[in-house]
Amino acid sequence: MRIGIPRESKAGETLVAATSTTAGQLQKLGYDVVVEAGAGVHSSQPDSAFTDAEVTVGTAEDVWSSDIVIKVNAPTTEEISRLRSGAVIVSIMAPGRSPELVDALAAQGVTALAMDAVPRISRAQSMDVLSSMANVAGYRAVIEGAHAFGRQFTGQVTAAGKVPPARVFVVGAGVAGLAAVGAAGSMGAIVRSFDVRPEVAEQVESMGAEFVTVDMESEVSTDGYAKEMTEAQVAATAVMYDEESRAADIVITTALIPGRPAPKLITAESIAGMRTGSVIVDMAAANGGNTELTVTDDVVVTENGVTIIGYTDLAGRLAAQTSQLYGTNIVNLLKLMTPEKDGVMTLDLEDVIVRGITVADQGASMWPPPPVQVSAAPAAPAAAAAEPEAPKAQLSAGAKVGLVLGAIAAFWLVNATAPDPIPKHFTTLMLSIVIGYYVIGKVAHALHTPLMSVTNAISGVVVVGALLQISSDDAAVRALSTIAILLASINIFGGFAVTRRMLGMFSKGA
Ligand SMILES: NC(=O)c1ccc[n+]([C@@H]2O[C@H](COP(=O)([O-])OP(=O)(O)OC[C@H]3O[C@@H](n4cnc5c(N)ncnc54)[C@H](O)[C@@H]3O)[C@@H](O)[C@H]2O)c1
Repeated sequence: MRIGIPRESKAGETLVAATSTTAGQLQKLGYDVVVEAGAGVHSSQPDSAFTDAEVTVGTAEDVWSSDIVIKVNAPTTEEISRLRSGAVIVSIMAPGRSPELVDALAAQGVTALAMDAVPRISRAQSMDVLSSMANVAGYRAVIEGAHAFGRQFTGQVTAAGKVPPARVFVVGAGVAGLAAVGAAGSMGAIVRSFDVRPEVAEQVESMGAEFVTVDMESEVSTDGYAKEMTEAQVAATAVMYDEESRAADIVITTALIPGRPAPKLITAESIAGMRTGSVIVDMAAANGGNTELTVTDDVVVTENGVTIIGYTDLAGRLAAQTSQLYGTNIVNLLKLMTPEKDGVMTLDLEDVIVRGITVADQGASMWPPPPVQVSAAPAAPAAAAAEPEAPKAQLSAGAKVGLVLGAIAAFWLVNATAPDPIPKHFTTLMLSIVIGYYVIGKVAHALHTPLMSVTNAISGVVVVGALLQISSDDAAVRALSTIAILLASINIFGGFAVTRRMLGMFSKGA
């Protein structure tokens, strides 16, 4: 099948749906790819980059007559009319807010896949364009804020005087918020962040920022999204928003509940109390903004000298990066939909990801899809709330007493009957089991990788011990040594293999 990548028609759009790298990856899946001349010019992807990667550069006609057309923005009415019946169109579509678009696509007899409808489940993360864009946009929000702020972020003591570090307050610690927290922190600012979902506190703190707490009733979300705040919560947070924004140099707001207008969290009065030169970057501007004074797609400077940035194209302001990520999301989707790597797209509506993004199929409207149980939130607390008792994981008090008595009896038996040095070794083994159980059981998930290195080291000790014993005259000792070497080697070499794969994820050009 042929894939066409058109030039985006939306005014001011900088993005393109494929870079030379991702177009090449699509070709490896068996597709022919044709890119419209000039499509990637704003994303550092000139036509020559595509031709160098052996990707065809063609006319708009070549692109729009393709079997599959992949773009960034939703197709216009004119573009829909250029699609041939039976073709597949893939783009961001906001289908929930655009019923007329869904009808027009169905009427054209095409199959339409909305990239922004990818469900937020673990398996779909590599195709989640909204997360890719929010991540880049969160970073860019800090850059925009820093650009408008007349000072540097890092605190310094210089011969010319002391420079205090900038204070950044990030509202909402979802994808964009956490990216902003990371970027501002890495530039040397003191970062504080608040989110109505208490479960994100750990993520905020793991990035070196301080999570602002408010004395109010809040519950862990079951689907990774916040719920509308109650009146009591609004009242409790209003004072905090006022104090935090007055104390901050830069405020970055990202608060949003999907499908609702952005909550107004920073009032005109709070902004009036902010210092001259302070900056607010309102990432929720496209949905009305989180401040009372945001103007969508514009920058306003208040009477007291506070700059409020309401850009909605933050991801597009890092076009090369965002196009690369968008293109990779597309490649990951097509990998899923091209199981045979033969250049033939299959539409498996039994797959929740494919069903979730299918807006229209060969003339039939498919929107909305059946709801998907999303797993963006940590599942454990929700499960624990639903089932307070977890009998499988917990030993009953009787079983615990039995275990302890059994261990004491075994300990006494071995010490009383076994010849030296077995009692000594047995005591060491018992103590190791008890200490290991408590120490390893308390290691946080984030530290499991260093823990793996420690188990590798222990396996190394086991191998050395087993090698010393393998020449024993006793056949049982030789057999046990062989088994010990085998098992410990699996741990050591498996550990190296996993570490290599993880390092590969961070190395450039991998
Ligand atoms: N301006 C741009 O160019 C641009 C680009 C990408 C995304 N965005 C916008 O950035 C925002 C965040 O996107 P995201 O992908 O991170 O969404 P997300 O759903 O991952 O994060 C939103 C966060 O806001 C929190 N929240 C909701 N109500 C809150 C409240 N009253 N107080 C504090 N926190 C609250 C939620 O718990 C959630 O953690 C959205 O508005 C999105 O449209 C803007």
